[in-house]
Amino acid sequence: MKKALLCLLLAVLLLTGCGAPGPTEEHLIRVGFSQVGSESDWRIANTASMLAALSEANGYELLFDNAKQRQENQLLAIRNFIQQDVDYIVLAPITESGWDDVLQEAKGSGIPVIIVDRRISVSDDSLYTSWVGSDFLAEGRRAVRWLEEQLQAQGRGQEPLRILHIQGTYGATAQLLRTRALTEALEAHPNWEIVAQLPGEYTEAKSYELMRDFLQTGQEIDVIYSENDNMSFGAIRALEEAGIPCGGEGEIMVLSFDAVRRALELCRDGKISLCVECNPLHGPRVAALLEQLENGSTPAKLTFVDELAFDRDMLTDDVIRDREY
Ligand code: AHR
Repeated sequence: MKKALLCLLLAVLLLTGCGAPGPTEEHLIRVGFSQVGSESDWRIANTASMLAALSEANGYELLFDNAKQRQENQLLAIRNFIQQDVDYIVLAPITESGWDDVLQEAKGSGIPVIIVDRRISVSDDSLYTSWVGSDFLAEGRRAVRWLEEQLQAQGRGQEPLRILHIQGTYGATAQLLRTRALTEALEAHPNWEIVAQLPGEYTEAKSYELMRDFLQTGQEIDVIYSENDNMSFGAIRALEEAGIPCGGEGEIMVLSFDAVRRALELCRDGKISLCVECNPLHGPRVAALLEQLENGSTPAKLTFVDELAFDRDMLTDDVIRDREY
């Protein structure tokens, strides 16, 4: 009799799930996050923001994968998340194209996908639930407008302008749209020319190497339009080693994207002429989207974050001190 009661109790415990994971563990929201890599200060700040927001203390079990700047790694990671039957997938895509098949698989498994930072280009928009990130075209236009105003103020508006363009990873939204803004500007200013385009892949090391090689050609430039801060750091290092100054009057102007603290300091010190902000702190924004989905509401399809730009005159010590990345 006692044995039968014990068996019954055991069966009840098993059926109700008691003795299995505790209540908090049971209610963790399982999220698979495929990150591009760790190519830049921006990206490192972005990863930190995501890890902090999607922490266990906040009710998440986060499966994190660093794709080391390779799309094939991202595809593998997403398939792995699908196999593990996560509740949500968050994707920071390296490039815009190449996602249809894998997102179709996620959709087939009923897993909502949130896109963060760069955009994706898919045949069917229902393959992702929501996107949050920067307006990269607006960033590029901000840089161009500032340059136009500077040249105008210096009385150089009609003079020839030689631009060195250091580009980020080809096919990434941040590259495509920052490049588009510059292309638009060239169409509007026949006196502006691109002397060379260097594929800096958003890294300091690559940009440094390319800049060193470029300087060997002896070609002269007035402006460096660098599609992220780390590539600016690499280019400035190569310039300094070659004894070429930048930032001062009549010297090369460096226009840089991201506005991480290191870049703001270089701007304060007069080496970077303009820092265009690109905000990496998407963790709480993604968590807010997940919360909406958990509550049964429909988040906005696209959310753009507000951003600024800083030159030396606009930059205060407070801005640099308060910068979180
Ligand atoms: O997609 C955002 C870009 O990617 C940032 O400008 C760059 O620093 C990062 O690697």
